[in-house]
Amino acid sequence: MATRVQSGLILGIESSCDETAAAVVRGGTQVLANVVASQMALHANYGGVVPELASREHLRNIVPVVRAAMEQAGAGFADLDAIAVTEGPGLAGALLVGITYAKALALGRGLPLIAVNHIEGHIHAVLMEARQREQPMEMPLLALVVSGGHTHLYLAEETGGLWRYRNVGRTVDDAAGEAFDKVAKLLGLGYPGGPWMDALAAHGNPKAVGFKFGPIKHRDKSEPQRTQSSGEDTEEFEDRRSFDFSFSGIKTAVLRYVQAHGMAERVEARRARLTAALKQRPALRAAEALHEMPEIFDAQTLDLIASFQYAVVGNLLKQTFTAAETYGARGIIVSGGVAANSELRRRFTAEADRRGLPVAFPTLAMSTDNAAMIAAAAWGKFEASEFAGDGLVAVPGLKLG
Ligand code: KG4
Ligand code: ZN
Repeated sequence: MATRVQSGLILGIESSCDETAAAVVRGGTQVLANVVASQMALHANYGGVVPELASREHLRNIVPVVRAAMEQAGAGFADLDAIAVTEGPGLAGALLVGITYAKALALGRGLPLIAVNHIEGHIHAVLMEARQREQPMEMPLLALVVSGGHTHLYLAEETGGLWRYRNVGRTVDDAAGEAFDKVAKLLGLGYPGGPWMDALAAHGNPKAVGFKFGPIKHRDKSEPQRTQSSGEDTEEFEDRRSFDFSFSGIKTAVLRYVQAHGMAERVEARRARLTAALKQRPALRAAEALHEMPEIFDAQTLDLIASFQYAVVGNLLKQTFTAAETYGARGIIVSGGVAANSELRRRFTAEADRRGLPVAFPTLAMSTDNAAMIAAAAWGKFEASEFAGDGLVAVPGLKLG
């Protein structure tokens, strides 16, 4: 390995949830191939990801997906410098498929193996695209990672190519994307719910229902949150807690609103119509559904959706910008599936402009799970020879920072 000429090429592999993905990235920046096999349509039948089905699909897809990425990149395994794989967090069985395959490939080809945290990957999706635009971001950065599984705030800083993260806020219950999905489900909409809510919210009045976020009740007050880079004194603990999130309350408030306003029947009628329509056309989008069957989207429901989104985005915005100010962040990154939300992008951009802070989002392709972000996050570790040993295992509850 020592005599190899470095190509800068890293093969990234991602299989933590419902996407089997492989990508080839040069020097952490230039994406030569980015292949994603999504299982969304499969899981949509169940209204959520089914772990057993996910593992089976990953097993079926991993070899063709990696092969397609290598072909797209015009590279052979001999051209690679390293293999990077998602270690966690994610579904145990799903992670295991990617890790086992990556380990076998690394061993067989004599290549170093690099373990990447999936959340770190989401952050690097944005950092990679900032480098591609030749607009690298100043540090420290405040990163909001907001997806179906996470709503986390990190203070991120690079020294000598290696990134360090300090978790300064997290959800104590549901993730924001999870709240979008659950509310969409309880309103009889399609899966995943985020894109449905986003498209429909544009047609409602965001001020119709005044959802409020109260103080957060911490179930585990006695349990300090460990971080890599900081101590655990009381002040730090309290400080961190002030930027936490909670989204289960608003989900319950939406449910109560539906019950209190006699909307349940309309929800069931909508669910029946959309379930039938989606069976015929699984790719049916919210905008098309609204156009083709406007009678199932009454004004009260559209107002409720708009008000929910307005409140959730407002809460994400307040926590993120207050944390950025508190920690003296020089820029803001928003990543993860919910970063695709159009109201979130609009309001974060306006607030950042107002404060003179740069804010960066991933392109739509980079905001959902992919392997280019894993290969990009691995680059600094490769240069610092931070390799995983033979003992690499899936860590479903892996933390960052
Ligand atoms: O990052 P991601 O692809 O997967 C993980 O959860 O790791 O995020 C998926 C989440 C889902 O909850 C989905 O509903 C949400 O992102 N999402 C959105 C939008 N697009 C996707 N939420 C709100 N607005 C959107 N436009
Ligand atoms: Zn993700």
